[in-house]
Amino acid sequence: MRIVMIGPPGAGKGTQAKLLQERVGVPQVSTGDMLRDAQRRGTTLGKQTEEFMLKGSLVPDAIVIGVVEERLAEGDCADGFILDGFPRTVEQARALDEQLRRRGESLDAVLSITVPEKELVRRLSGRMMCRSCGAPHHRDFDRPATPGRCNRCGGELYQREDDREDRIALRMAQQIGDMAPVIAYYRATGVLHEIPGVGPRDEVFGRLAAALA
Ligand code: AP5
Repeated sequence: MRIVMIGPPGAGKGTQAKLLQERVGVPQVSTGDMLRDAQRRGTTLGKQTEEFMLKGSLVPDAIVIGVVEERLAEGDCADGFILDGFPRTVEQARALDEQLRRRGESLDAVLSITVPEKELVRRLSGRMMCRSCGAPHHRDFDRPATPGRCNRCGGELYQREDDREDRIALRMAQQIGDMAPVIAYYRATGVLHEIPGVGPRDEVFGRLAAALA
């Protein structure tokens, strides 16, 4: 299955994409994770993108489109993928369609997760990420069983640089309205499902799974 998962920062894309990859058996492809990994390794891509992410703005289309094109060309994406956080602009959506068209493929579903802004801020400010597997946790909603350790793989938990209070405000201000044109683009294609993202994690997952059935 070829699935796109979109939504504002903190909507639960990463949380749900990880659950979905276990159910569907295709890899999660998270642009945020790939960019953070490049920054950790100090690569050219990491250096090119760090400033944008710390300012809470989107990384330029040309860079992100290239990263995703390369990743989707890898063998493990041959039977499908769950794109998490891409596309975020109409230009990215068109580039993805074009890459799939060249392969004779198309998207099966676009899952757009909607969550009110106040709840997004609560989620981001309490989030802790696993350094090893990238699984998001939350100090209230998804507590680690062992303090500071990932429930999934036991890796070390940390707070993302862009989850600091001042940076959350920047991301909200710059990105919250950005998705509207992308949602309109996919609404016209007939593969869009708008999924309310409020409620327990497993309940939200049930809504996503029902949309894919
Ligand atoms: P990215 O890493 O994609 O960040 P984001 O879109 O801001 O989304 P988040 O990862 O913050 O949230 P999420 O929706 O995955 O929520 P999560 O599941 O973690 O991108 C980072 C940056 O990279 C961007 O700002 C941009 O600069 C750049 N970038 C990335 N892609 C780009 C692109 N395509 N184009 C240009 N630039 C790009 O959940 C959040 C918290 O809520 C967690 O603590 C979780 O435990 C909790 N939670 C989850 N579900 C629930 C629930 N149902 N109830 C209560 N709590 C919940």
